[in-house]
Amino acid sequence: MNDAAHEIKASLGATPASLSPKFFYDAAGSALFEKITQLPEYYPTRTEAALMQMHAPELRASIGPGVTLIEFGAGNCTKASTLCTLLEPVQFVGVDISGDFLVQSVKALQARHPRLDMHAVHADISHAVALPSAVHSARRLVFYPGSSIGNFDPDAALQLLQRMRNCVGGDGGLLIGFDLPKDPALLEAAYNDAQGVTAAFNLNILTHVNALIGSNFDLREWKHHAYFNAAESRIEMHLQAQTPTRVLWPGGERIFAKGETIHTENSYKYSAARFTALLGQAGFPTARLWTDDQAWFAVAHAQP
Ligand code: AVJ
Repeated sequence: MNDAAHEIKASLGATPASLSPKFFYDAAGSALFEKITQLPEYYPTRTEAALMQMHAPELRASIGPGVTLIEFGAGNCTKASTLCTLLEPVQFVGVDISGDFLVQSVKALQARHPRLDMHAVHADISHAVALPSAVHSARRLVFYPGSSIGNFDPDAALQLLQRMRNCVGGDGGLLIGFDLPKDPALLEAAYNDAQGVTAAFNLNILTHVNALIGSNFDLREWKHHAYFNAAESRIEMHLQAQTPTRVLWPGGERIFAKGETIHTENSYKYSAARFTALLGQAGFPTARLWTDDQAWFAVAHAQP
């Protein structure tokens, strides 16, 4: 059995049940996430883009031209395109769990930056990533935008940052976006949009899981539920069973009571102080931080 199927069956069998948010991103999920980033309620993507544009000269001065730019979770490569224009890297490497989607995105990026050496790497960044030997080892900049780090529990986030630290060596850096704590009403609206795109994105994980393990989740029996957990400083997304339901897959099953939930995502919100401390623990003692005017979102350039 492959790793993904094994992981899914184990987490579905546990109490409470959960699914890793990395399983949101089949082709349909990646497209739905792209729609989320354009929703009026979903402030992170546009706020990060605006703040990077606002502070572009300082970002460029801090990082310098000629880096090897390695984006983790590159997705549609929209952010990479702007950053390539700003930073003039010597190489771009996109890493993503959604393989076909990534290949298409990197192709489109290559068309916009024809002379830049580019590579697409299909990998799950929650494990060690092996980069092809063509990737330069000097002056690597890992780019991890969008508050994707928020998907990981603090322990796992630290481990991921440590792997990034190992990846960039002593002469590299990390450019990372993280979402700041704010009015819970704004946070909750961002994960409960009026058009129901986030609900569709959350439910789509069940379609993907059906494809991955051969289960028979019926999406009509489940409802999207998202709320801010203040004690943990995170948005939680769940799927809640609307009726008692029994889910079958080859070799296993899981019975859910009415109202029982599957925890599908955490999205941690870090204060600047807490995130700087985490970076320090991971081996990035030096960090420059930029935020937008409303201090909703932050981008850090961290160095060993
Ligand atoms: C891609 C993990 C940054 O946590 O805001 C958006 C994913 N989930 N709406 C986030 C997401 C629901 C997003 N990240």
